[in-house]
Amino acid sequence: MATASEIAAVGVIGAGQMGSGIAQLAAAAGCAVLLLDADSAALSRAVASISASLRRLAAKGQLSQAACEGSIKRIRCVSTVQDLRDADLVIEAIVENEDVKKKLFVELDKITKPSAILASNTSSISITRLASATKRPSQVIGMHFFNPPPIMKLIEIIRGADTSDEVFAAVKSFSERLEKTVICSQDYPGFIVNRILMPMINEAFWALYTGVATKEDIDTGMKLGTNHPMGPLQLADFIGLDVCLSVLRVLHNGLGDNKYSPCPLLVQYVDAGRLGKKRGVGVYSYG
Ligand code: CAA
Ligand code: NAD
Repeated sequence: MATASEIAAVGVIGAGQMGSGIAQLAAAAGCAVLLLDADSAALSRAVASISASLRRLAAKGQLSQAACEGSIKRIRCVSTVQDLRDADLVIEAIVENEDVKKKLFVELDKITKPSAILASNTSSISITRLASATKRPSQVIGMHFFNPPPIMKLIEIIRGADTSDEVFAAVKSFSERLEKTVICSQDYPGFIVNRILMPMINEAFWALYTGVATKEDIDTGMKLGTNHPMGPLQLADFIGLDVCLSVLRVLHNGLGDNKYSPCPLLVQYVDAGRLGKKRGVGVYSYG
């Protein structure tokens, strides 16, 4: 198994909001990145947004021109899981659905080299259960980035029941190589941050649903009243309402407490395809 400094090739699966940012970070840290998505349009959007983001950093003098262009060149879009056979580390950032993720982990386990580490960027799903879909549970780990990955300074690492000390150490130092601060959570639904954040977002939906205040006043209240960079409804749109709903369902099912039951308004928005900023409409509309 590769140590953090030996991790040279990183596979990133899912080129959405999170996967594109994770690919950017890994490429900027000098890794060859293989970026895979089921949707080729998502790959094109990811390459455009990564290039724009790196060039913005170069224009601001935070990255040399050579490092910027080198990072862009290190990202290769691929179309099948087989293309990840040489990766030292694979970071999965696909849809927040346990069955779909498990299916992918089964495939990854078959095609990646025996020494490869398989990480999930899941927001809430049990790492132990994802690991149990593979024959290498000691090499499966949660590596939870925050949105937007290039800006947010945190990675939450989750060890499954069988994750080895070596894999934990390698992923922790790799996270530090990405210049992130690491926290470590036990493998419980929603881990640390979403266990606390999602009930707040859900409560904001209940406040809106029951007519406590307008969306604007709820968000302004939390921004100026508690010094959050975004109000909870704006943040929910930013994260993706589908992701928020999936996390709340994992919390509700896993912890068995009705306080995590998703607000009907959030459910209705997701049913209507109002998934937030990424779709142009959620609680708010984006031009
Ligand atoms: N990618 C790269 N850089 C970005 C970016 C992106 N998507 N969005 C903004 N930036 C950069 C900008 O270029 C800018 O850089 P400079 O200061 O060097 O010019 C900087 O970030 C600030 O951006 P803006 O001035 O445009 O906007 P802002 O000050 O409002 O900041 C924000 C934007 C960083 C997103 C800020 O609003 C914020 O921190 N929001 C809260 C984000 C948050 O809580 N994320 C965690 C969500 S929970 C999660 O991720 C876990 C989960 O499982 C759901
Ligand atoms: P997203 O909807 O922006 O992107 C998901 C991408 O995965 C899409 O491009 C989709 O085409 C692709 N995909 C779906 N199933 C696939 C499969 N089987 N194989 C290959 N590609 C597939 O979602 P996102 O917000 O980037 O979230 C991705 C993961 O990261 C989720 O597990 C989510 O919970 C987690 N996460 C999200 C945030 C956030 O703020 N959005 C923060 C931290 C973690």
